[in-house]
Amino acid sequence: MKTILITGGAGFIGSHVVRLFVRKYPEYKIVNLDKLTYAGNLANLNDIEKLPNYVFEKGDITDEKWISELFGKYRFDGVVHLAAESHVDRSIANPMEFIMTNIVGTVNLLNAARAIWGDDTTGKRFYHISTDEVYGSLGEDGKFTETTPYDPRSPYSASKASSDHLVRAYFHTFHLPVVLSNCSNNYGPYQFPEKLIPLFIHNIRNNKPLPVYGKGENVRDWLYVEDHAKAIDLIFHKGSDGETYNIGGNNEWQNIRLIQELCRIMDRKLGRAEGESAKLITYVKDRAGHDLRYAIDATKIKEELGWEPTIRFTEGFEATVEWYITNEGWLNNVTSGDYQKYYEQQYVKR
Ligand code: NAD
Ligand code: TYD
Repeated sequence: MKTILITGGAGFIGSHVVRLFVRKYPEYKIVNLDKLTYAGNLANLNDIEKLPNYVFEKGDITDEKWISELFGKYRFDGVVHLAAESHVDRSIANPMEFIMTNIVGTVNLLNAARAIWGDDTTGKRFYHISTDEVYGSLGEDGKFTETTPYDPRSPYSASKASSDHLVRAYFHTFHLPVVLSNCSNNYGPYQFPEKLIPLFIHNIRNNKPLPVYGKGENVRDWLYVEDHAKAIDLIFHKGSDGETYNIGGNNEWQNIRLIQELCRIMDRKLGRAEGESAKLITYVKDRAGHDLRYAIDATKIKEELGWEPTIRFTEGFEATVEWYITNEGWLNNVTSGDYQKYYEQQYVKR
């Protein structure tokens, strides 16, 4: 029986990783550590929360003492670290939160793992989940590989880059058995509606303007979140110590083209006349330091571990739109803030 810590498991990607691990590995005890910030929502895990191999621990990774006690209590065999402040726009408004959680929080976890594992790290693993944004911004050509020099340009990506460096430093200096991955933009169910796709679905439903930054010409590579979760599972179990794996969808979209496609799907799903939703498109002031283009070369993970995306974008995108429309209650709860009461109802008053 292994005990695995997953941090940030109440967030978007973390909830898919927790679900996958809890269901696929009944022989593991999965401990989900999450602070339940505005982005953490235990309702994302309704379907698995009663399973016997799942435990939730509410806490803050910046709390060094509490983290060290938690590692003492569970003696984790592995860590899958996703907890982070994750939204670029919030990092522009308030960088300090990002420094604390993404950098200090990560170092607290590294120190706690080091303290309980000591020199005997057989069968142990610290997996740090990062982003392609650490590599900076591409022009029209080229893709990020694992050896592309880091060039972060927002407080978010700079804080993630910093944590990546620290994780690698603990590998070289202290021989902590770490592995890292850097993934492109994820989409799918349970994404907080401050990010492009769920925000725009929500606004289209409510006939609110769709705020397109700048000219909408920035390019992102989109990957279905369950494909990311599968890559994380594979890297956690089969990746090599000290290595980094880039994960991507090989699926680049200019923002405005993606938004137009979304508007077409929404018109069809909502029974609106063609072109109706696109009328909501509103060009607004560009994001400060807006990276032009991200693209991932995922050759290494394909050749070494045999991972490739399984969900075609046309299917995944349609299914995602359908999910947000069907789960209108989830969107309404999250946007009204009611979801924050969930933890209290579920765990404190019981
Ligand atoms: P998210 O914002 O949806 O979830 C983050 C989770 O971390 C939330 O549940 C939140 O409550 C928790 N958290 C935040 N601060 C915490 C703290 N101090 N202590 C404990 N928990 C805390 O983020 P996401 O989109 O699911 O991203 C997860 C990870 O994947 C992040 O590390 C992010 O950098 C990385 N990533 C995201 C994407 C993407 O497209 N969303 C792409 C590549 C990498
Ligand atoms: P986002 O979902 O915030 O992800 P990231 O910044 O990590 O790539 O944004 C995706 C793209 O959409 C990015 O180029 C910024 C743009 N965008 C808008 O044009 N309007 C919006 O309201 C948001 C949230 C994003």
